[in-house]
Amino acid sequence: MTSPKHTPRVQTPKDGIAWVTGASSGIGEALTRKLVAQGWKVAISARSAEKLEKLASEALDQIIPAPVDISDADAVEAVVVKLEAEHGPIAQAVLNAGIYITIDAANPKFDDYAKTFDVNLKGTAACITALTPRMSKRRSGQIAIVSSATAFGGMPTASAYGATKAALVNMAECLRIELHRYGVLIQCVTPGFVETPAQDDNEFPKPFMVSADTAADRIAKGLKSDRFEVTFPRRFTWMLKLIYALPRSWHIPLVRKQTGWDKPVE
Ligand SMILES: NC(=O)c1ccc[n+]([C@@H]2O[C@H](COP(=O)([O-])OP(=O)(O)OC[C@H]3O[C@@H](n4cnc5c(N)ncnc54)[C@H](OP(=O)(O)O)[C@@H]3O)[C@@H](O)[C@H]2O)c1
Repeated sequence: MTSPKHTPRVQTPKDGIAWVTGASSGIGEALTRKLVAQGWKVAISARSAEKLEKLASEALDQIIPAPVDISDADAVEAVVVKLEAEHGPIAQAVLNAGIYITIDAANPKFDDYAKTFDVNLKGTAACITALTPRMSKRRSGQIAIVSSATAFGGMPTASAYGATKAALVNMAECLRIELHRYGVLIQCVTPGFVETPAQDDNEFPKPFMVSADTAADRIAKGLKSDRFEVTFPRRFTWMLKLIYALPRSWHIPLVRKQTGWDKPVE
C-alpha cells in the first residue's frame, strides 16, 4: 500500500523551484509571469537565450534563464543538474515547449514529421528522463505535460503534430499510473486554440480561441489542483470530446465536413 507520506501532492514555492520549457513566447512566457506572481522562482527554457534574458529582466531575483534545445537529451540533463545544484530541487515542471508544422498529406515532407517528433515527443521525453529519477527519489514533485485538444482525434494537416500530442497524453497517463506510489504528481494540459505565434501559420478557423494570458491563468489554476487533465476552453474541448466519442465511421466524415476537407480537389 502507498504510504500516505508518498501521496502525490500539489507543489508550492516552499518545495523548490518551478521550471517552464518553451518560456520564450506564447503560453510559456505568460505562465512564467503567473508563477512569478504566485511567489515561485522560475527557471525558464527555450532555444532563444535573448528572449529568455528579456523575460528574466522583468524579475531578476525570481526568473532564471536556462536556454536549451530540448531535443538534445544530454543538454537537458546538464541544465537540470545545474539548476538543482544552484537553485535547489525542481518541484514543479511545466513541459510546454513544442512546435506546430502543418503537413500537406498529399505532399508530405519526412523532415517535417521528424522535426515535430524530435521536439514535441523526444524533447518532452528528454525532460521526463532528467526529472523523474530525481523527483521519485525525493518522493515529491509535479510535472505537467502540455499536449493539445488535437490529441482527442484526427484533424486535417495535423498528422505530425496531432500524433505527438496524442502520444503525450498517453505518456502522461502511463507516468501518472506509475509515479503515484513515488509521490510524484503528473498532469496533462489539453488546450484548444490559444492566440500565440504558433498559430500564425495556421489558416484554420480557430473557434473559441483564448489569449495566452487566459491560457496561462487556466494552467496556473490547474497546477493548484491534483486532477489529471487541465483542459480549456471547456465548451470547446468538451464539444470535441463528444464528437470524438462518436464511432469513427461518424466522426471522421463529420470532422472532414466541419473543416472543409469534404470539398473535391481541382
Ligand atoms: N497555441 C495554441 O493554439 C496551442 C494549442 C494547444 C496546445 N499548444 C501547445 O502549447 C505549447 C506552447 O505553444 P505556444 O502556442 O505558446 O507556442 P509558441 O509561442 O510558438 O511557443 C513555443 C515555445 O517552445 C519553444 N521551443 C520550440 N522548440 C524548442 C526546442 N527544440 N527546445 C526548447 N524550446 C523549444 C519556443 O522557443 P524557441 O523557439 O526559442 O526555442 C517557444 O518558447 C506547445 O506545446 C503547443 O503545442 C498550443
